[in-house]
Amino acid sequence: MRDLNSMASSSSPYLMNLLLISLSVFFAGAFGCYSSIFSFGDSITDTGNLYISSKNSSFHFFFPPYGETYFHHPTGRCSDGRLIIDFIAEFLGLPYVRPYTEVKSNASPQNIEGGVNFAVIGATAMDAEFLAAMGDENDYTNSSLGTQLHWFKELLPSLCNTSSNCNKLLSSSLVLVGEIGSNDYNDALLAGKNIEQVQTYVPLVITEISSAINELIELGAVTLVVPGNFPIGCLPIYLTKFQTSDKGQYNSSTGCLNWLNKFAEYHNDQLQIELSRIQRLHPNINIIYADYYNAVMHFYHSPDQFGFIGGTVKACCGGGGPYNYNSSAQCGSIEASACENPAEFINWDGIHFTEAAYRWIVKVLFKGKYNVPGISRLVPCVFHKSSDN
Ligand SMILES: *[C@@H]1O[C@H](CO)[C@@H](O)[C@H](O)[C@H]1NC(C)=O
Ligand SMILES: *[C@@H]1O[C@H](CO)[C@@H](O)[C@H](O)[C@H]1NC(C)=O
Ligand SMILES: *[C@@H]1O[C@H](CO)[C@@H](O)[C@H](O)[C@H]1NC(C)=O
Ligand SMILES: *[C@@H]1O[C@H](CO)[C@@H](O)[C@H](O)[C@H]1NC(C)=O
Ligand SMILES: *[C@@H]1O[C@H](CO)[C@@H](O)[C@H](O)[C@H]1NC(C)=O
Repeated sequence: MRDLNSMASSSSPYLMNLLLISLSVFFAGAFGCYSSIFSFGDSITDTGNLYISSKNSSFHFFFPPYGETYFHHPTGRCSDGRLIIDFIAEFLGLPYVRPYTEVKSNASPQNIEGGVNFAVIGATAMDAEFLAAMGDENDYTNSSLGTQLHWFKELLPSLCNTSSNCNKLLSSSLVLVGEIGSNDYNDALLAGKNIEQVQTYVPLVITEISSAINELIELGAVTLVVPGNFPIGCLPIYLTKFQTSDKGQYNSSTGCLNWLNKFAEYHNDQLQIELSRIQRLHPNINIIYADYYNAVMHFYHSPDQFGFIGGTVKACCGGGGPYNYNSSAQCGSIEASACENPAEFINWDGIHFTEAAYRWIVKVLFKGKYNVPGISRLVPCVFHKSSDN
């Protein structure tokens, strides 16, 4: 991107941009590896499911300045603009993936061109009732990963009608499973459980993700991208809640809380072990671990390189305080306000990332640099596409 852009500015920007656009269209069309995207997850991926279906319309992320950068109004996305899933769709030359709640009543092969997004803000990997029984309140949704998969299976007959065309549909789709599981941990931590207790959730979360992947493979999925957790010790919500004068708890170069990042790494290690296990059992399936953790960690280590000159551990939009996060004055409420230029911040609202950060994550990951195994090796058309971006 950088090289092409600098070339463009030194010669003819108009021509160069035209060339770039047509190359992108050419590659997307010519390789045509993916006809659609099916996605599952939480607020990192929800493009409108909770917004359209929630009985409660007063959640703070349903109000401006959510959406201000790109859509110019709230869409139910937890950011100032596009999410990772939107940038993936753009890179693949597909339309933005439509939320399930928008298409479910009139789904047909024609009107789900591009795929369907089942992700819901607040969703957990584990069953909501099970978590409620453990005392972990979920204020947003009961639509856990299992529920989302159930929706998918219910919808499938209106998208394909024979086992051969269902197989064709799924094998030509990119299936994004996650990020999911961080709410299982968040809800427990915010409910006051300690990290040792929350650590016992990890195998349960991994089991849920694993069984969803296995079901999807059985249905015919061939390319599955499975993201890990983010470095949650860098999130303003946690930096605020677990603020301490003990400097030893912070990473001196990033300012993030070590113990929470270690926890996220632990989840990610366990997830990768399980993904390798599934991969060995299904050598003809591509299971790609998307390393969100390390992609984002690059931003905290070298923020200037990515243009994050406004803040790393401080949110763009919030109700004040050292990390600009206040749970009683969240982004979207009257008491909160947003920074001038969200692209200068990694974090948007204390929990989620800015559009600029999401855009970088997709660039970093689709170039295959930080992926094990690299998307570039396993999914050739993604590689060809991303070499232009
Ligand atoms: C709706 O959400 C708001 C904001 O989170 C909350 O204060 C309120 O209690 C919720 N209302 C209902 C009926 O759950
Ligand atoms: C989740 O389910 C429980 C029990 O069925 C219900 O009482 C609660 O309102 C639901 N929560 C949400 C956010 O839908
Ligand atoms: C199956 O679906 C295809 C594509 O939507 C359609 O053209 C065809 O008529 C359907 N066949 C049956 C038997 O429903
Ligand atoms: C800070 O974090 C980076 C990786 O995220 C790590 O390499 C470094 O060792 C950490 N520093 C300390 C003091 O923990
Ligand atoms: C958080 O916001 C509330 C509501 O605006 C305010 O009363 C409170 O003082 C704020 N807390 C901090 C620590 O700034």
